[in-house]
Amino acid sequence: MIKTIGVLTSGGDAPGMNAAIRAVTRAAIAQGLQVKAIYRGYKGLIDGEVKSFTSQDVSGIIQRGGTILKSARCMEFMTPEGRKQAHKVIQKEKIDALVVIGGDGTFTGGRLFAQEYDIPVIGLPGTIDNDLWGTDATIGYDTSLGTITECIDKLRDTATSHERVFLVEVMGRDAGFLTLNAAIAGGCEAAIIPERAQVKEQIEEAIGSGKRKTKSSSIVLVQEHAVEGGAATVAKMIEKIHPEFSTRVTVLGHLQRGGSPSAYDRILASRMGVAAVQALLDGQRNVMVGIQNDDIVLIPLSKAIHQKKDVKEDSWQALLTLSI
Ligand code: F6P
Repeated sequence: MIKTIGVLTSGGDAPGMNAAIRAVTRAAIAQGLQVKAIYRGYKGLIDGEVKSFTSQDVSGIIQRGGTILKSARCMEFMTPEGRKQAHKVIQKEKIDALVVIGGDGTFTGGRLFAQEYDIPVIGLPGTIDNDLWGTDATIGYDTSLGTITECIDKLRDTATSHERVFLVEVMGRDAGFLTLNAAIAGGCEAAIIPERAQVKEQIEEAIGSGKRKTKSSSIVLVQEHAVEGGAATVAKMIEKIHPEFSTRVTVLGHLQRGGSPSAYDRILASRMGVAAVQALLDGQRNVMVGIQNDDIVLIPLSKAIHQKKDVKEDSWQALLTLSI
């Protein structure tokens, strides 16, 4: 029987993680359960950084970016010794189940732990990258998309004034969701993403002798890992092929992870947090809470991690069509 739920955030922080912590805490308390907050992700679980949470501990955080529980990328938890130490803490703290909020690294660790120690683990997808299979959106993705779009709008002002080609490097780890969709939202000339990596062709289409030669300025988004060296490499390629163009590089970096979560992310995190507690009470284990067509779904962690989510082909075509 589950009496105490542990909750942690791990990996890269994402806007909306606080809303998720709040939802898990309050939903659990509403069901008569105890909540133990674990600080600094799996690192804190190994080190015993655990605190009992009341409803007041999560007051006034729904609008705050980052995570009040702090986060870490913990290699120690990827070792059997690290997980053994974490399990000692779980026993000492009498934690019966875990809700882990993070991305695929978080879920990979959680799944291994669940298998080795027979503890139910529920994952909430918290990452700006939107790269988890089985959910239409991850917590933080919408906010990050909004931030990137705002930056593009600002760059557009200076790009048109000077008639330059701007290369903007966007995060995403192995996925191009942020880059492609921000390119559509920002009216960009091209997006260079790992899923469609024909860099030279795209450059030519975007700013060369292709359809868009009428344009005197361009903004091209470059996913951070689509090309070795990122946006700077693409800028060099353009200047080599088209010395007539002057280029400028902007790396948006960790700006993309900050800021107050959008209403969408707050609502998503709140619904998912409540669903995670319900899933545990229903006897679910080792699943991720996802959203599909606005319905909450439960997806085995193994599928969420291992199946590849592709960008939508119609989105890709929309960018190509609309950037003439
Ligand atoms: O997974 C989120 C993310 O921001 C990725 O988009 C990026 O590649 C990575 O984390 C950066 O990690 P760090 O903050 O550890 O440098």
